Amino acid sequence: MSAEKLDGREAAKSVRNRIAADVRSFSETGRSPGLGVVLVGDNPASLSYVRGKEKACEEVGIHSREIRLGADVSQTEVLETVLALNDDEGIDGILVQLPLPDHVDERRVLEAIDPSKDVDGLHRFSLGTLMLGEEGFIPCTPYGVIELLKHYEIPTNGRHVVVLGRSMLVGKSLANLLLRRGEYGDATVTICHSRTPDLSVHTLQADILIAAMGRPALVTGEMVREGSVVIDVGVSRVDDPSKKRGYRLQGDVDYEAAAERAAWITPVPGGVGPMTITMLLQNTLDAARHRVEMSGSGSAPR
Ligand SMILES: NC(=O)c1ccc[n+]([C@@H]2O[C@H](COP(=O)([O-])OP(=O)(O)OC[C@H]3O[C@@H](n4cnc5c(N)ncnc54)[C@H](OP(=O)(O)O)[C@@H]3O)[C@@H](O)[C@H]2O)c1
Repeated sequence: MSAEKLDGREAAKSVRNRIAADVRSFSETGRSPGLGVVLVGDNPASLSYVRGKEKACEEVGIHSREIRLGADVSQTEVLETVLALNDDEGIDGILVQLPLPDHVDERRVLEAIDPSKDVDGLHRFSLGTLMLGEEGFIPCTPYGVIELLKHYEIPTNGRHVVVLGRSMLVGKSLANLLLRRGEYGDATVTICHSRTPDLSVHTLQADILIAAMGRPALVTGEMVREGSVVIDVGVSRVDDPSKKRGYRLQGDVDYEAAAERAAWITPVPGGVGPMTITMLLQNTLDAARHRVEMSGSGSAPR
């Protein structure tokens, strides 16, 4: 079998067209949605992610404002930056690009974000809401995976989904989403991690296999069940002298070998990545709409 490609760029384009139309109609309220981006240091991967996010904002009509802080910035300065964005009426969503330098406490910074502006969905309020199965901001990568499945009309109900990785950012949040009742939930979920003795025992039982470990090509063809759906969230830079920039992006799955057995598979790059950025746009638009609704009703934003 040669798998069909789950093309994240194509899916993202279609979702972004809809978001752009929604932003146009939102902007009739007199302003466009605003995203504040906090970037600390000069990690090349972070710089490139931030550029990608800002470009995507511009394309759909969301204005973004980047606040760049040096790698030696103090914890207090980062917190003050976030608090200023919380109070800024022109900003609906706040994104703190991770990772932060070691001397800055990431959790404390994320908790400083006003939950009503938490468009990355990583504040404990958003994560708790997700766990409760209630409406709230969903972390962008798990949200993107679900939207990608929706775009290709691949249901999860009653299917066995095996997730490799248990981070809050991806694995654990994704598992919670897949366990929600209703469409694109109702899955039976297995989560594996670095202490799972034999991954293949689990991966071979997966109807849908989702790899989010950051371990380049760890999932070999033999670990993939015939006819399954394979979603590769992993992105690692691996040295490749044949490339002009000296490296290439590699997912957690050996794509060529897995594609021989899977029915559907995401490429890296061009799979989950474009969907992650797209869901940041969706969350920012939703935050802006919610703030307008709340100011109309006189209550505080959520
Ligand atoms: N495409 C996108 O938009 C996007 C967005 C976010 C992240 N990513 C990528 O997704 C990957 C994961 O990101 P993350 O933030 O979740 O990473 P993370 O916080 O480092 O978590 C990695 C998870 O993988 C597990 N793991 C590591 N080695 C393993 C192994 N040999 N066998 C089984 N499990 C193993 C770890 O287990 P323990 O918990 O036991 O340590 C951990 O739960 C990275 O490549 C990242 O770049 C991509």
